[in-house]
Amino acid sequence: MNRFYVTTPIYYVNAAPHIGHAYTTIVADVVNRFYKLIGHETFFLTGTDEHGDKIAQAAREAGLDPKDYVDRNSQLFKDLWPRLNISNDYFIRTTDESHKKVVQYILQKVYDSGDIYFGSYRGLYCIGCERFFMERELVDGKCPDHDREPIVREEENYFFKMSKYQDWLVKYIEDNPDFIQPERYRNEVLSFLKEPLEDLCISRPRERLSWGIPIPFDDRYVTYVWFDALINYVSALGYPSGELFKRFWPVANHIIAKDILKPHGIYWPTMLKAAGIEPYRSLHVHGYWKIEEAKMSKSKGTVVRPLDLVEIYGLDAFRYFLLRDMVFGLDANFSEEALIQRLNSDLANDLGNLFSRTLAMVKKFCNSLVPPLNEAETEKEKELISQVDLTKEEYEKSMKEFAFHKALMSVWELINRANKYVDETSPWELAKDETQKGYLNKVLRLLLEVNRIVAVLVAPFMPDTSEKMLTRLGIKKKALELRWNDDLKLLGLKEGSKVEKGKALFPRIDIDAWKEKQKEESKEPGNGEDKIDEAKKMENVISIDEFSKIKLVVGIVLEAESIPKSKKLLKLVVDIGEKRQVVAGIAKDYKPEELIGKRVVIVANLKPAKLMGIESQGMILAAQSPDGLALLTCDRDVPPGSPVS
Ligand code: MSP
Repeated sequence: MNRFYVTTPIYYVNAAPHIGHAYTTIVADVVNRFYKLIGHETFFLTGTDEHGDKIAQAAREAGLDPKDYVDRNSQLFKDLWPRLNISNDYFIRTTDESHKKVVQYILQKVYDSGDIYFGSYRGLYCIGCERFFMERELVDGKCPDHDREPIVREEENYFFKMSKYQDWLVKYIEDNPDFIQPERYRNEVLSFLKEPLEDLCISRPRERLSWGIPIPFDDRYVTYVWFDALINYVSALGYPSGELFKRFWPVANHIIAKDILKPHGIYWPTMLKAAGIEPYRSLHVHGYWKIEEAKMSKSKGTVVRPLDLVEIYGLDAFRYFLLRDMVFGLDANFSEEALIQRLNSDLANDLGNLFSRTLAMVKKFCNSLVPPLNEAETEKEKELISQVDLTKEEYEKSMKEFAFHKALMSVWELINRANKYVDETSPWELAKDETQKGYLNKVLRLLLEVNRIVAVLVAPFMPDTSEKMLTRLGIKKKALELRWNDDLKLLGLKEGSKVEKGKALFPRIDIDAWKEKQKEESKEPGNGEDKIDEAKKMENVISIDEFSKIKLVVGIVLEAESIPKSKKLLKLVVDIGEKRQVVAGIAKDYKPEELIGKRVVIVANLKPAKLMGIESQGMILAAQSPDGLALLTCDRDVPPGSPVS
C-alpha cells in the first residue's frame, strides 16, 4: 500500500497560535486529506517545541514554573487544531518522556561514532533564534529575524561535526531534485553550502539553562534546541524500533516556512546521516503571511488570530482563503477584505450558486428525486464531461506539486463551466416542453453529478462543506472516507434517491457595510493605531485613468551584459522605437546571451533612476514564481514600440 507521512514544524509555546501557524497546519491537513483521498495510508504529525532559553524566560515572566507554563500553552495549540478541522494522528511535545529518550539515544549513538566532540566556541549569538550567527548572516549587524544585535558569547560545549557531511549533503541535494521544494529554496540551500559549513553547537551548560534534555554522556550539559526539536519527527514514530517508524519514515514530507529552512535543509539531513537514518523524502517550504506587506507584529497589533476570523466568516471560508490566496513558496499579504471578496465571489457566487440552483431545479422539476440519464449526449454535455476529466487531472497534478491555488482554480473551472451549462441549457425552458422531459432529466442529473464531484474535490480543503453537500445529495459519507476511484466516477448517485435543497452554503458578506464599519471603528479613540487602516489599504486600488498613465510598450533586446559586482542586475539596451538603456534585476534567472532578440514589455515612462551607478531608463516586467522570474513577452512578433494596453 502507498503511504504518506506529513509533518508541520513543532511550534514554540511562548506565543499564542496565529494565522501563520494555522496556515502551515491547514496545508498539512489538506495534504493529508488529499493523500487519504487517493488511497494512501497516511500519518500526520504536529506538536509543540517546549525547551530552551526563550521558553524558560517567558515562563519566568509569566511567574510560572516552566512545566506549568508549557503545559498551559501547548494546550492552546492542542485545543485550536480540532476547531480548524485538523486531522492529525498524533500531537508530540518535546517534554514527553518518550521523546526525550529518543533524543538521548541519538545523542549517545552519534557521540559513540565520534561525530560529537567537546570544544570551546566564541561567537555572535541571537537569543531570539537561540543560535550562533555568522557575520555574513547578519543584516546591518543585526539578526534579520529579530532586528536586534546578537551578543558575544563564549563557552565550552558539545559540537556536532556537521562539516564532515557537507559534501555528502551537496551531492544528495543535487542527485535528488525533489528533496527540497520549491526550487528557489533548494537553490538557497545549495548556495549556502558553497561556503564551508561550521560544526553545530548542540549543548548548553546546565548551570545556565536547566530547561532542556540532559546530555546522556555529561550531566553538566543539556542539549541545544535544534538537536532536541528536529528529532521529534522520528521520535513521534517510535524510532528506532517502532512499527510506525518502519512504515512511515521512508515517506516523510516536512512542511515548514522559509524561516526555518536552514535547520531543516542542512542540520536535519546531516544529523540523520550521522545517526545512520535515511534522509526524509521531501521538504516543502512556503513563504510568509504578511500584514500590509510587513511582518506580523504584536506591538503594531497586527497579529491575526485564526479563531477571530473563523467566528465571523466560518471555518471553510477561512481554510479556502488561506489555500487559494497564497502561492505555496511565495509570501502573501493577508487582508480581511480579500477574504471577504473570496467568500463572496468564489464561495457564495460560484460554488454556492451552482449548488443551490441545481437543487432548486431538481426540487421543482423532479420532485427532489435524482432523475435518470438516458438521453443521448449533445456537444454541451460532452464539453462539461471533458471539463470534469480535465479538472480531475489538473487537480491531482497540482496537489502533488503543492500548487494548491492551482488545484482550486481547476475545480473552479469546472464550477464555472457547470454554471454556464445551466445558462446554456436553460432547464426552466426545457420544463415547459413535455417532449424535452428526457433531456431535462439528463441535464439535471449531470448537474447533480458534477456537484457531487465538486464536493469530493473540495473535501481536503473544506471538509464540512463537502459533507454538507454530499448529505444533501443523499450520500452519507464522512469527508475522510471519500476515495478517488469510487467517489469521482461520473455516475455516483442513485436514480430515484432523494435530495434536499437546504440553506445557502455560504451567506454573502455585505462588503460596503463592512467597510463602513471599519471606518467607524478606526475613528474610535484608541483604535486608530491598532487596526489596519482601511483607507490606506484602499490607496492600492487604482482607477482606469490612473492605470492608463502607465505607458507599457514592447521592446526588443539589442544588447545585454552583466554588471560587475552585481549578482542580480543586468544592463540591457532595448529597442522600443528608440534605444533605451534598462538595468534589470534578472541576472539570477537569465543569462545575457539568452536575452538578445527577445521581445519584452517595458514601462516606458518611468522616471530614470540610477542602479549601481548606471542609469536605467525604464523597467522590464516579469512574473514572480517560486522557481524564479519569468519575463513577460508577446506571443506574436509585433514591431518594437507597440503599445501594451
Ligand atoms: N520550534 C521551531 C520549529 C521546530 S521544527 C523541528 C519554530 N517554531 S515557531 O513557532 O516559530 O514556528 C515557525 C513556523 O510557524 C514557520 O516555519 C511556519 O510554519 C509558521 N509560521 C510562523 N509565522 C508565519 C507567517 N507569518 N506566515 C506563514 N507561516 C509562518 O520555528
